[in-house]
Amino acid sequence: MAKKFKRHTITSALPYANGPIHIGHLAGVYIPADIYVRYLRSKGEDVVWVCGSDEHGVAIELKARKEQKTPQQVVDFYHNQIKESFAEFGISFDIYHRTSSELHHKTASDFFKQMEVEGKFRIETSEQFYDEKERQFLADRYIKGTCPVCGFQEAYGDQCENCGSTLSPVELKNPKSMLSGEAPIMKKTQHWYLPLDEYEAWLKDWLLEGHKEWKPNVYGQCKSWIDNGLKPRPMTRDLNWGIPVSVEGGEGKVLYVWFDAPIGYISATKQWAIDNGKRWEDYWKADDTRLLHFIGKDNIVFHCIVFPAILKAEGSYILPDNVPANEFLNLEGSKISTSRNWAVWLHEYLEDFPGKQDILRYTLTANAPETKDNDFTWKDFQIKNNSELVAIFGNFVNRAVVLTHKYFEGKVPERGELQPSDNEVIKSVKVTPQRIANSLDQFKFRDALFRLMELARTGNKYLADTEPWKLIKEDRGRVGTILNIAIQISANLSVLCEPFLPFTAEKLTSILAIKKSTWDKAGSVDLIASDHQLNKTVLLFEKMEDKEVAAQVNKLLKTKKMNEQEGRLSDLPAMKEEILFNDFTKMDLRVGEIKTAEKLEKSDKLLKFSVDIGLETRTILSGVAKHFTPQAMIGKKVIVVANLAPRRIMGVESQGMLLFAENRDGKLIAVSTDDDAQNGASIN
Ligand code: 2FM
Ligand code: ZN
Repeated sequence: MAKKFKRHTITSALPYANGPIHIGHLAGVYIPADIYVRYLRSKGEDVVWVCGSDEHGVAIELKARKEQKTPQQVVDFYHNQIKESFAEFGISFDIYHRTSSELHHKTASDFFKQMEVEGKFRIETSEQFYDEKERQFLADRYIKGTCPVCGFQEAYGDQCENCGSTLSPVELKNPKSMLSGEAPIMKKTQHWYLPLDEYEAWLKDWLLEGHKEWKPNVYGQCKSWIDNGLKPRPMTRDLNWGIPVSVEGGEGKVLYVWFDAPIGYISATKQWAIDNGKRWEDYWKADDTRLLHFIGKDNIVFHCIVFPAILKAEGSYILPDNVPANEFLNLEGSKISTSRNWAVWLHEYLEDFPGKQDILRYTLTANAPETKDNDFTWKDFQIKNNSELVAIFGNFVNRAVVLTHKYFEGKVPERGELQPSDNEVIKSVKVTPQRIANSLDQFKFRDALFRLMELARTGNKYLADTEPWKLIKEDRGRVGTILNIAIQISANLSVLCEPFLPFTAEKLTSILAIKKSTWDKAGSVDLIASDHQLNKTVLLFEKMEDKEVAAQVNKLLKTKKMNEQEGRLSDLPAMKEEILFNDFTKMDLRVGEIKTAEKLEKSDKLLKFSVDIGLETRTILSGVAKHFTPQAMIGKKVIVVANLAPRRIMGVESQGMLLFAENRDGKLIAVSTDDDAQNGASIN
């Protein structure tokens, strides 16, 4: 933090109230924010953390139609479920509000009107699809048709879920309204556009020049958007569900959900201020307030470009000082997906692992997708619990407290003369709070957690090295000193672990029979006075048995099977790790032509090809016999990895590799070029 701020306004992305919350949400947005806010509170900072349900938008209207409910019924259900899940995981918002509330409607509507009066929008007319039967303009998601790229007949107006192409509804062949099933017509409609192009120069200055310190994944995404040129974006929609556009000509229209949702942060703050006797303006309009948005990577553009431009246009608000967005969390190697039920849902986790919220908090923090997408596996969850929480943190605290009970009736013994090994650990205690703080101040939560665990590790090692259980007969005083230090370390852990593991912190303060302390007190070995009576110990963490994680893995396998049986598209594989340009140029890719093709004897998988790559003819084996007949391949232009080291497979040397695309249903398609490409032409 370069500037000294007097107070903090922290926001976390408002989840859509059309489905439950899963571990991806938690890892990407809510746990990092919760850690950060708890840390600020522990330091005694003035902070408000706001969140709430995002209750508008097409997805909610669609869900309601599908379930034959009203949108309000849908959002009421999920708002309550999400709110409860957050509370159960100790996500300590100061307020969890909702955008269907009256206060929010008024706040967003007034905001829009004010901007309209001041001429901050451009009103433009365009042609859009209209369902004559239902008398309604159609949002992109309300139109289905044939994908112009892959021919999939159920592509949405904005995206084809089969080939992943981003589409515009006018590109679809045979477009059909999802409301009536009829072909829609084109009809003129007027909308209010935010002229983002006019903010380009300002954004370059404020963001690209002024916020080079933002995380590289955030800064990079913003830079590429701005460098590509910004276009005006409509801030209104022709929909029924949402906040009415209450200016002239706005009948039948609502505010675009991405206009009203971020204003939800402001209305939530207003409600909190009313409830707590504060002035909301202090948290949104004072220069000495630090505004931070915690979000996932799909929300970066809205929070770093669109919302700041809206705030700038209005003129009286502060702008975000940082937007520490995370990447995505995958589950067992595949992208988390609501429609395929490929997720660990919080309400289900709580049923399966009651009282074990901190294990999930710990695993998700240790594996947080801070700089790149990351993977959650149940095996890793078990290892993190058994080898770190149980074996290090829990074991250390347990030993310290049990031995104090055993040798000193649970009364913290006095510290005598110190030896070098004592001074060594005391030094670790002293530097740890600042080390953790340094990491947290840079939004490096994994690092911060690692430093916390280092202290537990140090304590554990200290007891293992000094072996007080062996000394007790000959030197009770020395044992007293060791246990005093071990108890002081435990007390430090109770303060420092609170942002990460709030449930554990509470248990630990209760075992130590102390009051919750603050960050500035940590770093000392005088947190607990000698003679202080400890409570009996309880285990902080318990070993996770193989069968418990196997049950979770089986649950996922069942989901996978069910998806396959129901013909749901299986998932695209998760993105591989980023490579550098140099890595890419190492590959010699060339156009080849298949001259001959035959089945390889004794193999039902392999086809043997001879491929003309211009310079020479290569023998190449591919495991595609189940997908193609040899005849179908002869004469095809293909792409060859020409500099792949030769490999002997079933006695035949394969001198390269052919490229195939694999569809989500497992179907293979040879990667090809048209006939103009010469054999041997290089691909780069
Ligand atoms: O992506 C989402 O889930 C959105 N509901 C996030 C909105 S964040 C904010 F602007 F409210
Ligand atoms: Zn497609």
